[in-house]
This record gives sequence, C-alpha cells and structure tokens, in this order.
Amino acid sequence: MKVTVVGAGAVGASCAEYIAIKNFASEVVLLDIKEGFAEGKAMDLMQTASLNGFDTKVVGVTNDYSKTADSHICVITSGIPRKPGMTREELIGINAGIVKSVSSSLLEHSPNTIIIVVSNPMDTMTYLVHKTTGLPKHRIIGMGGALDSARFKYRLAEALEAPISDVDGMVIGGHSDKGMVPLTAHATRNSVKVSEFLSDERLTQVKEDTKVGGATLTKLLGTSAWYAPGAAVSGLVQAIACDQKKMYPCSALLEGEYGLNDLCIGVPVILGKNGIEQIVTIDLSTAEKAHLEESAAGVKKTNGLLEL
Ligand code: LAC
Repeated sequence: MKVTVVGAGAVGASCAEYIAIKNFASEVVLLDIKEGFAEGKAMDLMQTASLNGFDTKVVGVTNDYSKTADSHICVITSGIPRKPGMTREELIGINAGIVKSVSSSLLEHSPNTIIIVVSNPMDTMTYLVHKTTGLPKHRIIGMGGALDSARFKYRLAEALEAPISDVDGMVIGGHSDKGMVPLTAHATRNSVKVSEFLSDERLTQVKEDTKVGGATLTKLLGTSAWYAPGAAVSGLVQAIACDQKKMYPCSALLEGEYGLNDLCIGVPVILGKNGIEQIVTIDLSTAEKAHLEESAAGVKKTNGLLEL
C-alpha cells in the first residue's frame, strides 16, 4: 500500500509521520516543490523508524511526480496556510491553482488513486478536484469533519471533566468558522446524551469553541495547526488502506443527500477500500438542518469564486 502526501509543510509532514508510526503502509512518498525539503523531512522521519518501531518507508522528492506512481491514496496538503486573523476562504486564489495542478499531476501517474484534499478552503478545494478531474465521487474526499470532530470531543471532555475516550460526537457542515455544525444533541458520554451532564449554556460554549478551534490555534501558533490535522488525515488514510468501513464526517459531493446538491460539504461517510463507500444520512433537528443549509450556502458562495 503506497501513499503520497503532497506538501511537506507542517500538516503534510505530520500526516506522513502518523501514517508511518501506525505502520500499515509499505511506502509514504512526501513531495514538495521546495528543493531538498521533502527529502530532509523524509530522512529525519526515517531516522525515527528504529526508535518508534515502524517499517513504513518514507521517501522525499522535490516535485518529481514519477516517484508517486501507482499510489493507492494521495493526500493534497499543498498551498498556503492561513495567518492569524485570516479566514480559510481568503486562501482560495492561490490555493485553487495549486490544487488543480497537483491533482492533475498525481492522476497522470496514479490514475486509480483515491484523493484526500486537505488544502483550504477545503470544501471548495474538494469541489474543485471534482470539477476538474471528473473522477467518480467516491474517490475524492475532503478532510475537515474528522479534525473538527476531534476538536469537538476535546472541548466536550473538557466541559464534562471526563476522559476523551468517554466522549463521542461529530461535526458536520463546512470546514469554516461559521460553517461547522457540531451535533451537540447527538453527542454522548458512554452512550448517555451529554445534555444530561451539561447545561444548554455550557453546550453552546462548547459549540462555539469547537467552531473556532482552528482560528484559536492559528492565533496561538502564528500559523495553522498541524498535529490534529495530520492525525485526522492519517485516520482517513488508514480507514481506506485497511478497508475498515469506519465512519467519519468528510467532505463529499452531495447529490440530493440532506436536500443538498452540487457541492462538497461535511457529512458522515463510511470509508473503506473504495474510498467513500456510503454517505450516511442521519436525522437532524430543525435547528441543525437550518444550520447545515446556512453552511451549505456559505460553501456555495465560496465555490462561486472558482474559475471553472
Ligand atoms: C485547521 C486547518 C487545517 O482547521 O484548516 O487547523
């Protein structure tokens, strides 16, 4: 099982690291445009192999897509990250050109690959890959909901003063500060609704903290986060590589599901060897439905900025 990660910046490198540590892939190719950068990251990572106990071979290359040939899964993290005070949507101009050219170069050498899009604004970049490659929808997946859900669980555990392993919850909708829809009514602590433990006020706070999860970190770090994004991508890659049939919220092309059409937005999906094997439709409350529709309108507005 060969995986390519394009972009050896913080998110791409962290993603390669988690994939390697989980030891399920035979090879991870890390590709970057900056001369020698991916090679350096790959060498540094390979020097952790004996320490961390993995056999995955990590290879770094400078812009040489021939080395990515026959990848089962390709992850696109390339593009510029946001700076403090910026929204993900503001990155569209530069990142659209990069994502378009990267996806076409990847497909030239791995025509059967499954593509995971991480570059921001992620839902719009995922839609762009759909529009420009014409790949079947199950082979294009946007990573956002898995990360936002991890941040939601972190905030829930904090509010509940419970271990994170006790908590379950999902965030659907767009991967943007306004667009995320944390499903507080569905969230549980060991199958008991979290509303049994937390006041409406506290739950609203959890929801708001979750939605600005990325922005909070961008402000603290001066650039966007990488550990949780990298770990979230590695989870999706593993679900596909190991045919786990695991459910994650991911950005998927909708054709009527949730009453939405012609956009990519975060919804629960089942991931297995074919990529998105099923889009799961769940009952949403009236408020959640309205929030998802509002989120979809926001994503469509950003999609409208694409030059297709
Ligand atoms: C974040 C970026 C990856 O939310 O969108 O941290």
